Amino acid sequence: MNDLTISDAIRSVGAYDRTLDLFESQYPVPDGISYNSHVILDEKCAVMDTVDARETDAWLNNLRRELAGRAPDYLVVHHMEPDHAANIALLAGLYPEMRVVATAKAHALIGQFFDIELGDRAVAVGEGDALPLGRRALKFLTAPMVHWPEVMVSYEQFEKVLFSADAFGKFGAPDFSDGWVDEARRYYFNIVGKYGGPVQALLKKAATLDIRAICPLHGPVIRENLPFYIGKYDAWSGYRPEDKGVLVAWASMHGHTAFAAKRFAEMLRQRGVESVVEMDLSRAWVSKAVASAFRYDRMAVFAASYDAGLFPSMEDFLLHLKAKAYQKRRVGVVENGSWAPAAGKRMRALLEEMKDVEILEPAVTIRSSMKPETERELERLADRMSN
Ligand SMILES: Cc1cc2nc3c(=O)[nH]c(=O)nc-3n(C[C@H](O)[C@H](O)[C@H](O)COP(=O)(O)O)c2cc1C
Ligand SMILES: [Fe+2]
Ligand SMILES: [Fe+2]
Repeated sequence: MNDLTISDAIRSVGAYDRTLDLFESQYPVPDGISYNSHVILDEKCAVMDTVDARETDAWLNNLRRELAGRAPDYLVVHHMEPDHAANIALLAGLYPEMRVVATAKAHALIGQFFDIELGDRAVAVGEGDALPLGRRALKFLTAPMVHWPEVMVSYEQFEKVLFSADAFGKFGAPDFSDGWVDEARRYYFNIVGKYGGPVQALLKKAATLDIRAICPLHGPVIRENLPFYIGKYDAWSGYRPEDKGVLVAWASMHGHTAFAAKRFAEMLRQRGVESVVEMDLSRAWVSKAVASAFRYDRMAVFAASYDAGLFPSMEDFLLHLKAKAYQKRRVGVVENGSWAPAAGKRMRALLEEMKDVEILEPAVTIRSSMKPETERELERLADRMSN
């Protein structure tokens, strides 16, 4: 029994893509990503989602092995994003009797993505609907905007498994060898982060169920210590900082702004700040910087002025934070400029468009390089940021 297989009746047929460079053409995945898919073998047989087109062959081999000659009665589609839905038309073609179970919104998307006419093989389900399979039965809960509008999750009542779609997923191997939380946090904030409200709504519905295992579409099946993982999701989707600490992030061309930022990080450490994380935005993955910003309750941003504006790696970072609904945090702003500093104004403007972001005084301007007076101003800012 491999790690993702849940029981003799709920078997993993998904695939682990180890060679993908960028998930969604933007997130580095050096340890790959899994596209989970399961088959439930009962009196009726249901395939739970398909996989990305990159892994069609591996998935079909797994599926044929587990079906052992049976034909699936149902394909259950939780989410229409192509990393899971790429093989719907293929499977519908291979098994002409198979019915496709999904929300009405998902069925509309099936028509958009594929040239297939399912006719009466299309089964539209909604909140609370059930699909009996024998001893096992699925109950569907809609989860709109837990990534896309058509998303639903399903609960298998006999084995008490929640098939949670993209929720509780992570980048990397489908196991816990990386400790789960860092790659799950990077996945959550970059992919689902904007939709904290819908995730909170899903958590409320899930709280009414007796769940023994959470089976996401990426990453490992969670079978133990469920309150830990659900607690992380509750904090993340509630935009509550997970830890006390400061992300010190800089955007610097020739190193003077970076020097000041590193000096500032030392000042925070001297003042006993619990966690101080440094990030060079021109080199760190923006997805990691976004995840760190959400992890901590404070952030300090240091950037050089650039062509009467803001150095691009900082502009890009702040735009990402805004897109992911960064909020409820305290932020220090430090600019550098040699003749007409402009970075601070732009950083403040972007931060002011975010909800409940408090910009801490003093606003510091470095004129090319650190001088004793800038050092003193940074000390004052460090005092403000150290509690
Ligand atoms: C391409 C380029 C554009 C710049 N544009 C501005 C500007 O518009 N206003 C300004 O005051 N300084 C500008 N500067 C100067 C830098 O912001 C300034 O020298 C700063 O000290 C650089 O910090 P760094 O060593 O961290 O890169 C520019 C520098 C470069 C290389
Ligand atoms: Fe998705
Ligand atoms: Fe996904």
